[in-house]
Amino acid sequence: MLEENVLDSIASAEQRASRDPHGMLDLVLKFPAQCREAANITWHYGVGASEAVEIRRIVVTGLGGSAIGGDFLRCLADEYGPIPVLVNRDYHLPHWVNRNTLVIAASYSGNTEETLQAIRDASRAEAQIAVVTSGGKLADIAKQASYAYALVPGGQPPRSATGYMFFPQLTYLAHRSLLRHQFEHDIEETLSILESLAKRLGPDVPTDQNPAKQLARALYGKIPVIYGSQGYRGVVAYRWKSQFNENTKIAAFSNVLPEQNHNEILAWVQAQKQAPNWAVIFLRDPNERFENPRIVRRVEVTTELIRRVAPVYEVLAEGESLLARLFSLVYIADFVSVYLAYLYGVCPTDISYIDYLKAELAKLG
Ligand code: PA5
Repeated sequence: MLEENVLDSIASAEQRASRDPHGMLDLVLKFPAQCREAANITWHYGVGASEAVEIRRIVVTGLGGSAIGGDFLRCLADEYGPIPVLVNRDYHLPHWVNRNTLVIAASYSGNTEETLQAIRDASRAEAQIAVVTSGGKLADIAKQASYAYALVPGGQPPRSATGYMFFPQLTYLAHRSLLRHQFEHDIEETLSILESLAKRLGPDVPTDQNPAKQLARALYGKIPVIYGSQGYRGVVAYRWKSQFNENTKIAAFSNVLPEQNHNEILAWVQAQKQAPNWAVIFLRDPNERFENPRIVRRVEVTTELIRRVAPVYEVLAEGESLLARLFSLVYIADFVSVYLAYLYGVCPTDISYIDYLKAELAKLG
């Protein structure tokens, strides 16, 4: 049963303490400041990697909350090139990685076994290596091997440290002239939109004026399916799904158009027989009608079909720059997933199943 008024009784940290004992919402509220700090984190440029070697490809290797920053980087590289970025979420790197590949190993804890294995692959392939971490074994490896590394502040859940894990990657690529774009203005715009969202979606804004609380309420008891209308919204849809999984501890699914229109659209014929309680969220971009009017029509028709069996909600990106639009959508998910966790009465920070799994694997040695 949905407890009424839960979301309007959590304005102060004291009032939230029983629902959010480890303060996930406080970390969400501090996210704009985290991003500002992260954009200025110092890189230690290693003496081991030769910056004279031409970089032809970039691989970001990481998992979960640390990998998503690589996805954001890929979106920017797709827009501003000239080098392709691939995100590797596995123990091993693709076999084409070589000395002309820049491998960025991203692990917030610095102890994720897949990432530690992947950096060994990168070293064997004589790739150029850069590391973003808060410490752990990865920091030790970076220092010993004299890789370039950025040490970010530790002590919080990786999924709440996306700013720390992403912005140093952006500044490293800028340092190596691997993006054809100046980001100073975009970063300022992004920070100012994040600050504004924090005010508009924060816990002290009552539900009737707070779209994040309203969406959380609408999603209570539902299985969220998040669709990106196109491009970077697909990456952000996956982030929304992951935030519902990790913060809210619920099943959620994501996909992106136009691909969804070629297969998953047919799932809605029978979806209600599988479960009666789906809810769809479309992540939209204010510019999509100029970039590709056919996508707008695709969203309209897809929405019409889904509305026969499930409610459809829309969330619109804010800002001019790609960076701001991407981060605005990312940030809204932080609020919605934490508010929904409050409604379910689960701790947003808890990751006991992940911890259990890692402990079982550790027994293998
Ligand atoms: O959000 C989380 O806690 C996870 O998705 C972690 O990011 C994931 O397990 C990888 O750990 P790390 O980010 O420390 O490399």
